[in-house]
Amino acid sequence: MSSGALKRVIAEEGFKGSKGQILQFQFSGKGQVKRIILVGLGAAKVSSAHCRTIAVRTARHARRFTSIALILPQTDIPAVRAAAEGLLGGSYLYDRYFSESKKPKTKLNRAVLLVDKSQNTPELERALQEGAIIGGAVNFARDLVNCPPNDLTPTALADAAKQACDQVGAKCKIYNKKEIQNMGMNLLLAVNRGSAQEPRFVHMSYKPAQAKKRIVFVGKGITFDAGGLCIKPSKAMLDMKCDMAGAAVTIGVVVAAAALRLPVEVHGLVASTENMTGADAYRPGDVFTAKNGKTVEIINTDAEGRLVLADALSYADELEPDLLIDHATLTGACMVALGPRRAGFFSNSDDIAQSYIVAAEQQDEMYWRMPLDTDLRELLKSSIADMKHCDGPYGGTITAALFLKEFIGKNKWVHVDIAGPAFLETMHGDTPKGGTGFGIRTALEYLRSIA
Ligand code: BES
Ligand code: MN
Ligand code: ZN
Repeated sequence: MSSGALKRVIAEEGFKGSKGQILQFQFSGKGQVKRIILVGLGAAKVSSAHCRTIAVRTARHARRFTSIALILPQTDIPAVRAAAEGLLGGSYLYDRYFSESKKPKTKLNRAVLLVDKSQNTPELERALQEGAIIGGAVNFARDLVNCPPNDLTPTALADAAKQACDQVGAKCKIYNKKEIQNMGMNLLLAVNRGSAQEPRFVHMSYKPAQAKKRIVFVGKGITFDAGGLCIKPSKAMLDMKCDMAGAAVTIGVVVAAAALRLPVEVHGLVASTENMTGADAYRPGDVFTAKNGKTVEIINTDAEGRLVLADALSYADELEPDLLIDHATLTGACMVALGPRRAGFFSNSDDIAQSYIVAAEQQDEMYWRMPLDTDLRELLKSSIADMKHCDGPYGGTITAALFLKEFIGKNKWVHVDIAGPAFLETMHGDTPKGGTGFGIRTALEYLRSIA
């Protein structure tokens, strides 16, 4: 098709290139090209994020077809990396539980990027591979989050982490209940008491030969959050299989860091259990001793995430990290504050917070820094133990962060509350419905920036 003819079709069809607009037209002839898809961006200046969008929308639109070729308005390294990642992200579909009749009959199995001969360099090839690794990690995390909680038990989650680590040559040690007891993780065990499923603690690590920094990621791995005895209303409980999304991010980051051979030492810790109402369930009013020796009075059994994270953070402290980064679907209050698609994040270092925001902006993920207002610490004062683990609704995201801060030792720390963006009720923009893998891209971008 000549460019004149193309322009004519564009004009006739009223394609303005506005944001999200798609124009597809078919050719009836015997030629190799069967159809052309145009993706509108609604932007005068193209960024690498736009290239991701083009790839996501094209892959999504081309799901019924087996092969596509992509032409990008920009072909620098970040743009190509983002496009490769978008191709994987856009073709994502969680069809594991469809029987044959409902499974899609065809799958996109080949995508090529068309570039000028002069641009066809090994660096560009590498960018494609990197994008595919990152997109693969995001899709892997989505699969874990979308998996129904009767199948994704803490044991299954730990096994999935091990399997993924094995594939990229990362180490993975799984601790069972007995070993968790021996480590003194009594807060993780307290949450586990109401569940028929054993808890698991997972320590993944990737250690390249010449690493200058050691970063430890920690993830909340509640495979189902019924709320415990302070049980959730049924509507609030429905999507609570997503409560292990922090763990999914943590696994995805370690596996991708290893596959990308990033020159940073990366550890991933996952504390996993269900939060249920069994006969031995922990109660409001109970007091437990955390791994680091502090005593904690239980107030609301639905504030379980901070408890399992507390023991994981104490374990992380022993690894002497340069930086601790935790991800957790921690508080509904975070969605009240920032809406359903933005993460709240906290850091005790202004420099790190600034770099993290830059990484998030580059990856087009929405973060907002929240204040670690230490004067709210008094809300966690207890009359019978070292502290309470939660308080009322005011500043609920902040008091949760202040509780975690009691367990980080002297370390630099980033805490990301992904209660909203980890799981979407309906698809939005480039992001699918259900598990999103939110957080992985920013974390990897940050790791690259310090490497
Ligand atoms: N897993 C929830 C938080 C959550 C809510 C994540 C909605 C995703 C979507 C967490 O364990 C929880 O229940 N938090 C309580 C804390 C409260 C009892 C202090 C909450 O947010 O209500
Ligand atoms: Mn809860
Ligand atoms: Zn929870």
